[in-house]
Amino acid sequence: MKVLMINGSPRAKGNTTLALDEMAKVLEAEGIEVEVVRVGSDDVRGCIACNSCAKTGKCVFDDVVNELAAKFEEADGLVAAAPVYYGSANATLIAVLDRLFYSSHFDKTMKVGAAVSVARRGGLTATWDEINKYFGISGMPIASGQYWNGVHGRLPGEATEDAEGLQQMRTLARNMAFLVKGIALAKDAYGLPEREPGVFTNFVR
Ligand SMILES: Cc1cc2nc3c(=O)[nH]c(=O)nc-3n(C[C@H](O)[C@H](O)[C@H](O)COP(=O)(O)O)c2cc1C
Repeated sequence: MKVLMINGSPRAKGNTTLALDEMAKVLEAEGIEVEVVRVGSDDVRGCIACNSCAKTGKCVFDDVVNELAAKFEEADGLVAAAPVYYGSANATLIAVLDRLFYSSHFDKTMKVGAAVSVARRGGLTATWDEINKYFGISGMPIASGQYWNGVHGRLPGEATEDAEGLQQMRTLARNMAFLVKGIALAKDAYGLPEREPGVFTNFVR
């Protein structure tokens, strides 16, 4: 079993990395493989709505997003983690998630999602909500913890002082491990839920 983590921060030794490290220790102790891809310093553009992915199943911009899609398809869970910029997830992470979820067409049903946000002071819960939207539209159960999965810190390293935030990361990781393992058993026993053919209306007709 494997969890893919997408770290939105441009700072390799920043607070988002510390939050994910805390989760990774628990997941690995639970026997779950972890792979972290940090995208925050990458030159990632946003979706241009060309819809070429509808034909090809991959993004027209052949960058880290297509690499992540292959890893995501193999994974049992996805953690998306953002430093908060202006009360929202940082733009690079959003560009990656928009293109990743829009362009990849493999079935994401029952892959477990977990959102993590990191900020000096404000915007943690709004960012957490924002990230969870990608999971909620994809049939992905959302792992939760003892609070809203946020860690405080401004300068790189300050997150180590947020004892409650780091505890949240450990709790979240334990709950995520439980869901990943439980869903694997349930898939063996019952298979994935039946899917109806999609109905797609846009309120015009
Ligand atoms: C452009 C920019 C905008 C920011 N906006 C916010 C904000 O809205 N709220 C907040 O609490 N912190 C804000 N911060 C601070 C970061 O969220 C904080 O430094 C965080 O620890 C960064 O995570 P990292 O070390 O993983 O990069 C901002 C930082 C930058 C660079």
